[in-house]
Amino acid sequence: MIITFVGHGYVGLVTAAVFADLGNTVWVIGHTPEKIENLEKGIIPIFEPGLEELVKRNVKASRLLFTLSYEEAIRASKVVFIAVGTPPKQNGEADLSVVFEVAEKIGKHLDGYTVVVTKSTVPVGTNKEVQKIIQRVKSEKATFDIGSAPEFLREGQAISDTLHPDRVVIGTETKAARDMLVELHKPIDGRFVLTNIETAEMIKYAANAFLATKISFANAIAHLCELTGADGLKVLAGMGLDKRIGSPFLSPGAGYGGSCFPKDVKALIAIAKKYNYDFRLLGEVEAINKFAILNIVKKAEVLLGGSIKSKTVCVLGLAFKPDTDDMRDAPSITIISALQKGGAKIQAYDPIAMSNAKKILRGVTYYNNSYEAAKGADIVVVVTEWNEFRQLDLQKVKQLMKSPNLLDARNIYEPQKARSIGFSYQGVGR
Ligand SMILES: NC(=O)c1ccc[n+]([C@@H]2O[C@H](COP(=O)([O-])OP(=O)(O)OC[C@H]3O[C@@H](n4cnc5c(N)ncnc54)[C@H](O)[C@@H]3O)[C@@H](O)[C@H]2O)c1
Repeated sequence: MIITFVGHGYVGLVTAAVFADLGNTVWVIGHTPEKIENLEKGIIPIFEPGLEELVKRNVKASRLLFTLSYEEAIRASKVVFIAVGTPPKQNGEADLSVVFEVAEKIGKHLDGYTVVVTKSTVPVGTNKEVQKIIQRVKSEKATFDIGSAPEFLREGQAISDTLHPDRVVIGTETKAARDMLVELHKPIDGRFVLTNIETAEMIKYAANAFLATKISFANAIAHLCELTGADGLKVLAGMGLDKRIGSPFLSPGAGYGGSCFPKDVKALIAIAKKYNYDFRLLGEVEAINKFAILNIVKKAEVLLGGSIKSKTVCVLGLAFKPDTDDMRDAPSITIISALQKGGAKIQAYDPIAMSNAKKILRGVTYYNNSYEAAKGADIVVVVTEWNEFRQLDLQKVKQLMKSPNLLDARNIYEPQKARSIGFSYQGVGR
């Protein structure tokens, strides 16, 4: 099938490359000439394991085609996916301006019958707006249906998530659109959830809000465990063994971040508000998350004897989670800003995300590895649980530091082992 993706970010590029690899001819429309030129050469704008190779292979086979122009791609395509960003506005609502802008451009170039599918995370009712826009601008002879296919991939394992998702949600309002999308997704081995447009739109927000709620619940329980002397990790592991609960996302730490959970929780609160429902549970999820992130700074203060002023803090891990270079809404941003505000000097290292971090975090000294970053530090704070941090020679780290304080905000070290080496160790919930 010939299909098009508008947007080549974490979602657009991965999904486009996977569909190309499955034998489809896939156009990808961008809006930055330099990025499109690079993509044609196989140089990708994001870090995602395995993606560069997948893109190169499919560009070489002429199944993956990049362009700035809507005309040729849209005219040739049976299915067009909108995969552009939907960042939060000041009031928490999703900013849909790019979705609507590209819908208009798509509409103007439709030819024959096309299914226009929104893959971006969008509030319930958005696809109906897309439908109105396209109806207004399309040529008389063009016919189309809309579809909603929200994406559930996780950065860091996006290719395998796209090929083997837990579910493929397809929202449509006609049989023709449903049949076309089911045919396209046939090689994907997730369970199909075929539904109407509004339900598909809502499944995505409900899923992300629930996962964020689970993380905040784990952080709240972990905090209570610290206060009471219970072992938070054992409590959460014990909870998670109940099949009705499940263990994923029950790890306490420095809160959730990234390009999805914070913005999608905010957007769902805003959607509810529009329908006069005060979704207070999600307000509390946000408050607990903020506390979990800032509590790391409190813990650093305690380990440093009450003040972070003029102290050197080594921050290991900046990306919002391991195996990605994505810095959007990363807890490290809030933690580093608060530490700097308290007068601390920051030495940081992240295996992949430093070039993105440099665009956001000012006044930070970046190093090429963990040991260099730890040199002369009063405390090491592990903010992102990259695997390479698990393998660190803690003895060597301690020798390089000014004072041996270890704040393990992701619980990756054995407290007893760290303490036996001579660290003042603090984790989360233990
Ligand atoms: N990142 C994730 O893990 C993830 C997972 C599931 C769903 N989503 C959702 O998918 C959507 C995209 O997320 P993302 O992480 O890929 O975002 P992203 O920021 O990585 O990518 C957005 C893309 O949109 C393009 N774009 C912006 N303005 C444009 C314009 N005017 N015309 C054409 N293209 C334009 C950008 O160039 C970029 O390629 C969002 O709604 C997000 O919530 C993201």
